[in-house]
Order: sequence, then C-alpha cells, then structure tokens
Amino acid sequence: MTTAVIIVAAGSGSRLGSPLPKAFVPVAGAPMLQRALGALTDWTRWDSLVLVVPEGYEAPAQALATGMESVHVVVGGETRGDSVQQGLAALPEGTSYVLIHDAARALMPPEVFDRVLDALESGAKGVIPHVPVVDTLVTVGDLSSTQGGVNRDELGSVQTPQGFGVEALVNAYASTTQEFTDDAAVLRSAGHEVLGVEGHPRGFKITYPDDLLRAESLLGSNGAPLVAVAMDVHQFDSGEPLRLAGLDWPGEPGLSGHSDGDAVLHAIVDAILNAAGLGDLGTHFGSARPEFAGANSQVFLDHTLGLLKDYGLQVSSVAVQVVAESPKIGPRREEAETTLSALVGAPVSLSATTTDGLGFTGRGEGLLAIATAVLRRL
Ligand code: CTP
Ligand code: MG
Repeated sequence: MTTAVIIVAAGSGSRLGSPLPKAFVPVAGAPMLQRALGALTDWTRWDSLVLVVPEGYEAPAQALATGMESVHVVVGGETRGDSVQQGLAALPEGTSYVLIHDAARALMPPEVFDRVLDALESGAKGVIPHVPVVDTLVTVGDLSSTQGGVNRDELGSVQTPQGFGVEALVNAYASTTQEFTDDAAVLRSAGHEVLGVEGHPRGFKITYPDDLLRAESLLGSNGAPLVAVAMDVHQFDSGEPLRLAGLDWPGEPGLSGHSDGDAVLHAIVDAILNAAGLGDLGTHFGSARPEFAGANSQVFLDHTLGLLKDYGLQVSSVAVQVVAESPKIGPRREEAETTLSALVGAPVSLSATTTDGLGFTGRGEGLLAIATAVLRRL
C-alpha cells in the first residue's frame, strides 16, 4: 500500500491581500509552503508528494522541496477543487491512499497526518480531521429566531489533511460536476461514509492578515531563547599564576583546579551546556578525563561551541559576574569583555562585586563566578 500527499498551494490569497500568491508569502521568514512542508520532514509515512502551485511558481516550489524524494510539481486550476484534481491526475500509478492538505494550514502538526492515515489503513474511505467550534453560532439575517437554536456541541470545524482511498475519490470527482468546498463533500456525494478524527488548533487556515500574525507568534514562541545560569568556585592558591576571564593577571594569587582554574570560563561553559541541555562540565571534562588536566579552559569552550553547532544551536549572549576580593576587575573589564566575546563568538559582559567581607569570598579564600548564557537555534 502506498501513500501520497497532495499539497494544494495554487490559490492567490485574495483575503490576505499580499502581492505574492499566498503559499509563497513568508511566515516568520520562510514561505508558507515551506512551513507546510515542515510537517512532511518530521512525518515520513508518505511515498510521494504532489505540490499544486500557481503557474510560474513551479521552480520555486521544487526548490522548497529540495532534499525530499518523489516530489511532483503541477500547476493548479481556477478553484481549489480544480487544483485538487490536477494533483490527483499527477499521482503515481498504484497509489492507494492520498492525504490532501492546504498549504494555508501551514502549522498543522504531524500527529494529525498520523491519525488520518491510521484511519485509512483501518479501512475508512474518507477521513476528515475536525476541531470543536468555540463560538456561539447564529443564522445571520435571522438573529431573533435562531438565538440559542444552534447547538455547537454537535458541530465541528473541518481541517486538512483529509484522507481518501484514491480510487474512491477519483471516481467521486469523475461522477460530479458540482463545486464543493472540500474533498470529503465530493466523496459523500458519491455515497461514501466519511470518518472524523481529532484535528489540531494549530491547523487553522491562514486566511486574513491576523491569521498570519497568529502563525508568526506561534513560531516565535517555538524559537524562544534557551537560557541557563551556572556558577563556578575555585580556591586561591598563591603558588599559581592567575588565569581569569581568558587573561593573565601578573602579581595576583592564582586559582587552584583540575585545569587552569579560570572560573569565569568554567561558569560560561557550564551555563552554555546547561542551556543546551547537554549536561555540565563534569559530564564532558570531569576529573575522569585526564587529557583535560591542566588544560587551558579555552579548550573546554571550543569543544562546547563545537557541540552546540552539532545540535543546531548558537550563543546569543553571555553575562558573567565575578564575586571576589581580588583581582579588581574594573580596570581590565573592557579588555576581558573583548577577549571573552572573541572566544565565545557572541557578546560577553562582565561585572564584579565583593561580599562585604562575608563568607569564603569575603575572607579571600576563593573566587566565585556566575554566568548566564542565552542560546538560540541556528
Ligand atoms: N487553492 C488552490 N487552488 C485554488 C484555490 C485555492 O490550490 N484555485 C489552495 C490554496 O492555495 C490554499 C487552499 O487551497 O492552500 C485553501 O484555500 P484558501 O485558504 O481559500 O486560499 P486562497 O484561495 O489562496 O485564498 P483566498 O480565498 O483568500 O483568495
Ligand atoms: Mg480561496
């Protein structure tokens, strides 16, 4: 049994009012069609994909599907129904199931594709996802007689992807000349039953400019920065030279430690690892890793930045506070910030404070550094 997905993307988007065809309007920086294709990168139960686009947009559509296999791009028609039929005509021979999806429902999550195909595989000829109607419904133009008369609990809003047995749908289209607003209605007109599955609120159709704003804010919250705070403490050891914030501090008591004791860099690395959900310093460079003994802390940082890249993350900014009686950070703050920013590849700010003579920092026994790292997805 093979499954195809048809994405209809040939509409003009007159209600959106954009000069570009709707499916090519950017949604948070990527064309709407590309957003819709995102679901099919995560959901891989399809064998072929047909993109139905406006004339002249075949090459851009093909480019958006780069890296996906078995993609066919065809030109759509006057109405959505015409576009669907163009898509059906382009299905590879022998396709058993087809899921027909609106590019305009660009944020529909993969789980709904799953539910639709599961129902088809269980024998349904037609499957529609739907969500509850939240507003009270009335018959406009006859408000007085219908108040409270429409029971919304019995109603649902229909979404896509809608799933069909290919043969049943093709035959249904062939035996009607009527214009329907969705494909399930065409199937029903041929006497087939249609099964409902749970849709998803994210599958709303981007129709008006406000819908575009809603989609963009949903994507924005997905891309929210990753933030973590981490601290590091080292004991002073006057027999060692001081390395701190990537600088040498001649004449200042040094810090003891498994590596060069640079508590500022250690706190930064720990905060970055934690923000990325990749563990901590001990996980990657613990005492059990003798190859890092006495290492310049820059080695830890470089290794961590490499890991971040592998996970599709990048440092946006870092802020560090040093808590200690010495050294005095103020006179060398700019130098330290410039050095750290270059090492991290993002702006690093540095501040310092004392603890009024209290605790281990106040007694001059050790130094504490607290770092906050902010990451973003690449
Ligand atoms: N569609 C299509 N071919 C058409 C009309 C619509 O492929 N002739 C597609 C749209 O690209 C969209 C889906 O059908 O993905 C749902 O249509 P709709 O949201 O109405 O989009 P548009 O028709 O583009 O918008 P409008 O009605 O505001 O012009
Ligand atoms: Mg339309």
